[in-house]
Amino acid sequence: MFVNIIAVIHNIYLTVGTEVCIVETTELANLIKDRRSIRAWEDKPVPEELLLQAVELATWAPNGANAQLWYFYIVLDKSTIKSVADAAQAGRDTMASWPEMAQAGGFPRPASTPPGASAPAAPRRMPLGDAPAMILVGARKRENPMDKVISERAKVDEKATEMLQWGSVLNPRIQSVSAGIAYLLLVLHQMGLGATWMTGPLAQSKGDVEKILKVPDGMDIVALIPVGYPADSPTGQRRPVSEVCEIIK
Ligand SMILES: Cc1cc2nc3c(=O)[nH]c(=O)nc-3n(C[C@H](O)[C@H](O)[C@H](O)COP(=O)(O)O)c2cc1C
Repeated sequence: MFVNIIAVIHNIYLTVGTEVCIVETTELANLIKDRRSIRAWEDKPVPEELLLQAVELATWAPNGANAQLWYFYIVLDKSTIKSVADAAQAGRDTMASWPEMAQAGGFPRPASTPPGASAPAAPRRMPLGDAPAMILVGARKRENPMDKVISERAKVDEKATEMLQWGSVLNPRIQSVSAGIAYLLLVLHQMGLGATWMTGPLAQSKGDVEKILKVPDGMDIVALIPVGYPADSPTGQRRPVSEVCEIIK
């Protein structure tokens, strides 16, 4: 019985006496490997209950001090989706008009452009407005008394200055919310829905999007996730694990 339960988890090493064996968990492995970022959707509504259930499951993600600083706006209203998409496009158009952008060669090539293909001259029209649903993920701000201690001490102490810099990289608030988003994407995929984790559209429009959603003070929108039934099926690629992992023993 115990072994049966465990058997759904991929690559878990079970020690039976002195013998160690790898347990296959095809279901979870397939779910993880089949999920792709989906950027085109069928014109079909997404049931509210599904999205709510997906968010509820996402809140079971690990998160720093179990502070649960995430907040999820599930947007089903077409006009709000359009307003968000328009704000993102307007921000992008503004940035595209800067002379510095021409010097920098324009926006980076979209992820879906095949290797070797040239980048489009004009910024690609983002299909965000076509998304049947959108989840905007917020991160609540929380004062950590330790941060105050470190920044005060950093004025007189080199080690504390170093710690201050580490703190900005470790950022448990963003790491925690990201864990929730990763869970969310997997659950949505398991439900047959297609989504993309996006920060790009917010880079030029975060303030405007927050106004549209009436986001209160003390919260930042950190990700935008269009969701719908997939109308494309991109393939995925990853570097071999040997390039991104080392075993220290
Ligand atoms: C933090 C983060 C930000 C991302 N921002 C964007 C984005 O702005 N636009 C977009 O099209 N995809 C975005 N993506 C999706 C990535 O491009 C995608 O995950 C990556 O290319 C791997 O493809 P896959 O998700 O299909 O495996 C983002 C993903 C992450 C994790």
